[in-house]
Amino acid sequence: MATRSESAPRVRIDAGELSRGVARLGAEIAADYADRNPLLLGALKGSFIFLADLVRAIDVPCEVDFIMAASYGAGTVSRGSVDIDHLPSGSAVAGRHVILVDDIVDTGRTQRALIDTVRKLDPASIGTCALLVKNGSAHKRSGLRIDYRAFDAPEGFLVGYGLDLAERYRNLSDLCVLPDDDETHVKR
Ligand code: PRP
Repeated sequence: MATRSESAPRVRIDAGELSRGVARLGAEIAADYADRNPLLLGALKGSFIFLADLVRAIDVPCEVDFIMAASYGAGTVSRGSVDIDHLPSGSAVAGRHVILVDDIVDTGRTQRALIDTVRKLDPASIGTCALLVKNGSAHKRSGLRIDYRAFDAPEGFLVGYGLDLAERYRNLSDLCVLPDDDETHVKR
């Protein structure tokens, strides 16, 4: 937890609300992908809690795999490039209906890099899913489409429910914002 009380993360979307949002999303995906056995591809690390809850809200057959994507590193500002690692094999993706799952879309760089990478593996289709989408952010200008979103992202630097600041706070059950007086972060 934060070392100074004034820097404690403040709850923006509590665990109950997160759970209801994820359940809604899971029902939508189940309805759209019934009989298609979608492959949900979670972008590590941020999506690990969201994806774990999401698959349990999808009551049709589906499969799970992961892909490593990082653009923030230990810092708080995107480096502007996305490192992709730990790809599923081409044979695991070819012909499959893939849904890319991420915790948050901000600039959209990560989602675009994931789409470009997965497209080369010859899937039958690629869908996009995020727990949070920053409204008015750069991803819109680039025409990036997010097919499934649970929430518009609250303002501020968000942590908890998988989201981190330099690997900290991922374990919080609620989605929180770091207060402005925390000099260790800048807005993302
Ligand atoms: C975060 C987050 C998204 C991405 C969103 O990942 O999990 O993947 O940034 O930002 P963008 O839309 O501007 O690309 P990060 O690089 O912090 O790695 P992490 O998932 O391991 O936390």
